[in-house]
Amino acid sequence: MDASERGKLLFKLADLVERDSAYLATLESLDSGKPFLPCFFVDLQGIIKTFRYYAGWADKIHGSTIPIDGEFFTLTRHEPIGVCGQIIPWNFPLVMTAWKLGPALSCGNTVVLKPAEQTPLTCLYLGALIKEAGFPPGVVNILPGYGPTAGAAISSHMGIDKVAFTGSTEVGKLIQEAAGKSNLKRVTLELGGKSPNIIFADADFELALEQAHQGVFFNNGQCCTAGSRIFVEEPIYDEFVRRSVERAQRRKVGNPFDPTTEHGPQVSEEQQRRVLELIQSGITEGAKLECGGKAPPTKGFFVEPTVFSNVKDHMRIAKEEIFGPVQQIMKFKTIEEVIERANNTEYGLAAAVFTRDISKAMTISAAVQAGTVWINCYNAMSCQCPFGGFKMSGNGRELGEIGLKEYTELKTITMKMSGKTS
Ligand code: NAI
Ligand code: MG
Repeated sequence: MDASERGKLLFKLADLVERDSAYLATLESLDSGKPFLPCFFVDLQGIIKTFRYYAGWADKIHGSTIPIDGEFFTLTRHEPIGVCGQIIPWNFPLVMTAWKLGPALSCGNTVVLKPAEQTPLTCLYLGALIKEAGFPPGVVNILPGYGPTAGAAISSHMGIDKVAFTGSTEVGKLIQEAAGKSNLKRVTLELGGKSPNIIFADADFELALEQAHQGVFFNNGQCCTAGSRIFVEEPIYDEFVRRSVERAQRRKVGNPFDPTTEHGPQVSEEQQRRVLELIQSGITEGAKLECGGKAPPTKGFFVEPTVFSNVKDHMRIAKEEIFGPVQQIMKFKTIEEVIERANNTEYGLAAAVFTRDISKAMTISAAVQAGTVWINCYNAMSCQCPFGGFKMSGNGRELGEIGLKEYTELKTITMKMSGKTS
C-alpha cells in the first residue's frame, strides 16, 4: 500500500476513536476500574493524538543518500519489519495499544496484538473500528488470551519478526529469552519502575506536594512511571509528610463513574492482594504507616490511599514496584547523597526533581539513570516525545520520531557507477 494511504487509514481510525470516545472511555472504565473522567480526558485524548501523530509520519519515513568512497552510490531504505507481535498490559489498555499500533502501521507492518486477559474489551472494540476504517483484512489481528499461552506463542513464534511488550520485568525477561531461543525476533520492552521524585527545600512547596501526590496515586497507583520513592530534603521533611497525609486522606475513593471520584479499585483481586501484602511488609520492616493501609469495607478491590514515612532504602516498599496507591517518603540531606540513593535501583524508567534552582535541576537531570526526567512536573507525557527505560526498565523507546526506528529495518543499497560520485 502507498505510504500516504496508510496515513489516511490511521487518520480515519483516529476520527472513529474520537467519534466513539465516550463509549470507549466507559468500556475502559468498566473493564479496568479507572475513573471515567481522567480516562476520557487523558487516556482517550492521548490515544487520538497518537494515531494522528503517526498517521502524519506515514509518508515521511525515508532514508538517505550517502557519498561513499570510490565509484559507488549508496542509499538507505527504511522497510517494514514484517509481522509484529504486541503484548499489552491492563493498566492503560487502549493507550498502550495506540502506542504500539500507531508506529507499527505507520511504518507498514502487520500486527498480532494480545490485550491483557483482565482488560480485553476496548481492544476488541478498536478491532471493529479498524475494520470500519477500511484497513485490509489481516493487517491487524486482535488476539485475546492468557500470557503463558497466547503471549508465549507470540514471543516464541518463528513467523513473527518483532515483539513489543509492556508489563512486568519478570515477563519481559521471559519474552527476551523466548525471542533468543526462537528466531531472534526484535524485542522492545517497557517494564517496571521505582522512580525517584526528589524534592528540595527551595521548591514551590504546594506544586511539589500536589505533583508528588498525583505522581504516585494517578490511575489508582497502577503506573509504570509512578513516583513511588519520594526523597524530601530534611528542612521540609516533617511538613511535607504531614501535608501529604492530609492530601491522601482527602483523596476521593469510590465508584469510577461518579464524577467526583479521583480513585477507583485496583484492577483485580490478585493486584489488591499483592498491594496489601507489600503494605504489610512495610509495617513489619519498621516504616511508619501514616494513613491508609487497608482494604476499605466497600465492595470492590479497593485499597485506601496509603502514606509511609521513615522509609529506609533497604525495605521492600522502597525497592519493589508496588503498583498500587502507596506513597513512600524518605529524607535526604545532600545532593550527592540523594543522587546515589536515587540510582540505587535495578530500574530506570523515570525521575523527577522539584527545585527553583536551575543548576540543581540540571545536575539531577544529568545524574539520574532514567529514560525520562521531569523538572517541576510529573507524568507530563506526549506522543511527540520518546519514552522508555534505562537498566531493567526496558529496551528501546516508544513514541516520538525515534519510536519509528523500532518498527523498520534499515537496508543499505550500494550501486557501482561508471564514474566517481563524490
Ligand atoms: P504481566 O507482565 O504478567 O502482564 C502483562 C501482559 O503480559 C499481559 O498481557 C499478560 O497476558 C502478558 N504475559 C504474562 N505472562 C506472559 C508470558 N509468559 N509470555 C508472554 N506474555 C505474557 O503483569 P501482571 O502479572 O498482570 O502484573 C504483575 C506486576 O507487573 C504488577 O504488579 C506490576 O508491578 C507489573 N506491571 C507493570 C506494567 C507496566 O506498565 N510497566 C503493567 C502491568 C503490570
Ligand atoms: Mg503476570
